[in-house]
Amino acid sequence: MPLLGVNIDHIATIRQQRREFDPDPLKGALICQEAGADSIVAHLREDRRHINDRDVIALKKALKIRFNLEMSAAPGVVKVACQVRPDQATLVPERRQELTTEGGLDVVRHFRQLKGVCARLADKGIAVSLFIDANFVQIDSAKKLGVSIIELHTGPYAEALNAKARKAELKKLALATQYARSLGITVNAGHGLKYHNTVDVARIPGMYELNIGHSIIASAVFLGLHQAVREMKELAR
Ligand code: PXP
Repeated sequence: MPLLGVNIDHIATIRQQRREFDPDPLKGALICQEAGADSIVAHLREDRRHINDRDVIALKKALKIRFNLEMSAAPGVVKVACQVRPDQATLVPERRQELTTEGGLDVVRHFRQLKGVCARLADKGIAVSLFIDANFVQIDSAKKLGVSIIELHTGPYAEALNAKARKAELKKLALATQYARSLGITVNAGHGLKYHNTVDVARIPGMYELNIGHSIIASAVFLGLHQAVREMKELAR
């Protein structure tokens, strides 16, 4: 049974709409922890559009479960990671214009840059994971980089247009998991996983952890809206 990492970026997204203090991603992370999350994931983007440096420091200090900092290999962000020392760093590609991470990191193309970044993070005692497509060549490169964890990009599976395409993507994820496990690499997966499409990925033999954000935070809005309105109505009275 895979573990669950909860990505709390979108709690911070709502906060940043007003540049105020609410809702506080740390408070959200503590609720996730209490609800059984195995790790908390937060993406410190270069433009700081949601999670900021203060959040990352607070998360590191308060969490009892693993803190997985998602980040690009940009020098400024690597510097923050080395100072904060999360339990894990997951390296992802980042484009400023994108709404969310769009593809896996090309570890073949960026091998030399990643070698240095992985070594710097590992030197600080941070477990390094690479977010990559379910592709054997990428997995081989990750192995050569010496990382012990990868996260397979489930976006193509989640966005598949029909059952046949979804099945084919699921098979790619299963084969990639099997191959990486045979190399001694821990395999996580995430991106675009929702309540209706997670079970099949969770069933992949050898899958260690699923990292899920948007669908959980979206669901939380409706789970809490009824009570939130009732409380305000009470005050209005
Ligand atoms: N894993 C990685 C590497 C991601 O970039 C993201 C999105 O921030 C997630 C998991 C979570 O994706 P989603 O919000 O679609 O569940």
